[in-house]
Amino acid sequence: MDDKVFYSDREKILNESLQTLALVLEYNTRDYPAHQHAIRVGEGCVIIGEKLGLKPDTLLRMYYAGLLHDIGKISVDQKILAKKGKLTDHEFEIIKKHTIYGSRILASLPGLNELALWVRWHHEWWNGTGYPDGLIGDEIPIEVQIISVIDCFDSLQTPRLDRERLPQEKAFEILESESGTHFNPEMLKCVLEMVKEKTLLPGKSSEKFLELKEKYLNVSLSRFSSGYWEGSGMAGLYPIIRLFAQVIDTKNQYTKGHSLRVSILSKFLAEKMGMHPKDILRAEIAGLLHDAGKVTVPTEILDKPGQPTEEEWQMIKKHPGYSYHILKGITALKDIAKIAGCHHEKYDGSGYPLKLTGDKTHIISQIISIADTYDAVTSARAYREGQSPQLAYKIIREGIGTQFHPQVAQAFLDTSAKYINALFDLYRE
Ligand SMILES: [Fe+2]
Ligand SMILES: [Fe+2]
Ligand SMILES: [Fe+2]
Repeated sequence: MDDKVFYSDREKILNESLQTLALVLEYNTRDYPAHQHAIRVGEGCVIIGEKLGLKPDTLLRMYYAGLLHDIGKISVDQKILAKKGKLTDHEFEIIKKHTIYGSRILASLPGLNELALWVRWHHEWWNGTGYPDGLIGDEIPIEVQIISVIDCFDSLQTPRLDRERLPQEKAFEILESESGTHFNPEMLKCVLEMVKEKTLLPGKSSEKFLELKEKYLNVSLSRFSSGYWEGSGMAGLYPIIRLFAQVIDTKNQYTKGHSLRVSILSKFLAEKMGMHPKDILRAEIAGLLHDAGKVTVPTEILDKPGQPTEEEWQMIKKHPGYSYHILKGITALKDIAKIAGCHHEKYDGSGYPLKLTGDKTHIISQIISIADTYDAVTSARAYREGQSPQLAYKIIREGIGTQFHPQVAQAFLDTSAKYINALFDLYRE
C-alpha cells in the first residue's frame, strides 16, 4: 500500500471501498443475477431526493445506502436466494435477516451509523408490518421511505429467476395497491408521477450513474470520522480492513477467525524472516484479506464435507482471482490485491489460478500460503474437528520446494505449535 495515497486521500478510500462492496454483492449473486439493481437504486435515491429538495450531503449518503441496501444478502444461502416459487416461513425468516446483517457491516465503519440504520430499515412498511423493527409511519425516516419505494419499483422491473421483468403498468398496479400499507401515500404519488413524466426510469441503467459514481468518490461521507482515521500504519487502515473482514465473516461463519489467524501467523513469519516493516504490515493486511474472493463461492460448497465435484472445484479455484479483483478497486490496496491473488500458487508452479512458480510469486503470497495451510489443517470446519498441528508440520515439511518456498517453510518449521497457539490466543475475541 502506498502510504502517501492513503493518508492524503482517506475519504476516497472509504468511498472506493463502499463502491467495491456493491460489486461484491453482484459477484455473490451469480446464480441470482442482480442485474445492477443496487446501482439503479443508488441512482434513483439521488434523483428522487433531489426532486424533494433534500440536502446534497443527504443525497450523498442516500446514494451509498441505495448502493448497499442489500449487502446483508451475502449472509443468505444462495439456494434460498435462487429458489423459484414460494419460500417457507423458515426461509423467509433467514432472508429477513439481511437487513440486520447489512446494517452491522456498515456500522463497522466510522461515522456511518445513520447510513447503517437506513439499510436496517429498508423493509419497514408504512403501516408498521415491516421488519426488523416494526416502525410505523413517520417513524420511518424520509430517506428510508425513498429507498424502499425505488427498491420495490426497480425490483418489479428487474427479471428474476421465478418471473420476467414486469411491464410498467403491472408494476404501477402493484405499488398503488400497497399505498398506505407498505408505502407513504404521498411519497408513492410523487415517485409514480416522476416515472410517468420519465424523470425516473426504474429497471433501466442510465448514464447518470457513471456521473454520480465519479461525483461521490472524492467527497467526505462520514461526518464524525476525522479522528478515527488518524494514526499510522495499521491504525490508519483499520476501518477498511475491519469492513472487509466483517464481510468475509458475514458470508461464512465457519471461516470466522481464519483470516485473523492467517494474518497473525503471516505477520510473525515476515518478522522472523527479517523483512522490512512495510512488508511486515503488508503481510498482516494481506493475511486478513486474502480470502475476500470467497464471497463469490456458495456457502454450501465451502462447507461441504468430502471432495467437491469438478464443477464445484472450478468455482473454488476462482476465489484468489476474485480477491484480486475486489481489492484492486481500492487504490491504496493495489499491491495487497496482487499478493492476495497469488496465495494458492505453489512453488513448483502447480498451483492456481496462474500457475506461477516461486520466483514469480510475491514472497508475501508464499508466506500466506504457509499460514493458510497451517490454519486450514488445524481449525475445525462445519463437517470435521480441527486436525493436529503435527499433521500440518508434516504437510509443510513434505511440501518444501514443491508447494512451499524453502526459506518461508524453514521459518515456520523453526516455530513450535505451542508458540503459534499462544500467539493466536493473544488476539482471541
Ligand atoms: Fe432488501
Ligand atoms: Fe484461499
Ligand atoms: Fe484462506
